[in-house]
Amino acid sequence: MSTDSAPLLEVTDLRVHFPTADGVVKAVDGSTFTVRRGETLGVVGESGSGKSITFLTVMGLINRQSARISGSVRFEGREILDASADEMRGIRGARIGMIFQDPMTSLHPMHKVGDQIAEVVRTHTDKSKSEAHRMAVEALREVGIPSPETRARQYPHEFSGGMRQRAMIAMALVMKPSLLIADEPTTALDVTIQAQILELIDELKDQFNIGVVLVSHSLATIADVSENVMVMYAGRPAELGSRDEVFSDAQHPYTWGLLESVPRPDIRVERLVPIDGAPPSLITLPPGCAFGPRCPHARTECTAEVPELRDRGAGHADACILATEEKGRLRAARMKALGVTT
Ligand SMILES: Nc1ncnc2c1ncn2[C@@H]1O[C@H](COP(=O)(O)OP(=O)(O)O)[C@@H](O)[C@H]1O
Ligand SMILES: [Mg+2]
Repeated sequence: MSTDSAPLLEVTDLRVHFPTADGVVKAVDGSTFTVRRGETLGVVGESGSGKSITFLTVMGLINRQSARISGSVRFEGREILDASADEMRGIRGARIGMIFQDPMTSLHPMHKVGDQIAEVVRTHTDKSKSEAHRMAVEALREVGIPSPETRARQYPHEFSGGMRQRAMIAMALVMKPSLLIADEPTTALDVTIQAQILELIDELKDQFNIGVVLVSHSLATIADVSENVMVMYAGRPAELGSRDEVFSDAQHPYTWGLLESVPRPDIRVERLVPIDGAPPSLITLPPGCAFGPRCPHARTECTAEVPELRDRGAGHADACILATEEKGRLRAARMKALGVTT
């Protein structure tokens, strides 16, 4: 429905470098992707791959004194990477909602849940206290919290973990933003509640036709609810495409590694294999492809230069220089070795 419209969020060649005493930490180093309304972009990668820094930068939450930031972030048709702190305060919470891993750190323990949500409304509009409160109750209702009038008068500690995360989503969406950024929103929750929260985000995405960014260290977690997937490695996208393309026709050996290390509902695998080694230092990245030192298929050419993200058609892009036919052979051999049966 909305796929032919202009992207809601368009990030191009984003770089976020932190100068430190030990050297420059290249937390994000050339990231390009888009998010459209009505679509969820699932962002996956190991811890430290630059996921949080990417989206903190999009939201204008990285201190410019501490980082060198370059590239472009277009949101709702305008460049916001150079927006003032004031402009970003107007966008955050109103046009871009956000939720984080631990709702206890974002909800103030001493204030009633309804008051905290109403406060977001009061910050962004000149609505009356009672109107803001009414909107807070409505937002709690929309995220499936039973008896929202009563719940609005309670404190965060009176909520269960799952209910607190619902309240955070209510706070993020009370202003009806066009984009929701959820950074590991379910990591602190048990598996059943995780699934319910992801399902809720998926429903709200359709109901309000918003764009969603769903960040996770686990490919399995985001698979069900993401139309598109971006696999990040060492501050760059290694692979980007529709969920179906990335799952059924993965092109990057890092993505293969991720797929082979988690249980999957769609295929039967005899054994799971973790990816060997550890991510590189972001201060001294290996030459060429940053995944090279961990890649069982790496060869001399891979160290020559940092591989560009190349489009393979159908919006599916990857940053591995090996030829498509060769990758097909390598992947088939890997699947065979793992005893994969579809
Ligand atoms: N202020 C900072 N100064 C130096 N390095 C930082 C700073 N903030 C984050 N980093 C580094 O940036 C990298 C990416 O971090 P992050 O985006 O939080 O990873 P992820 O969310 O994928 O786990 C990490 O190696 C982290 O240590
Ligand atoms: Mg993170």
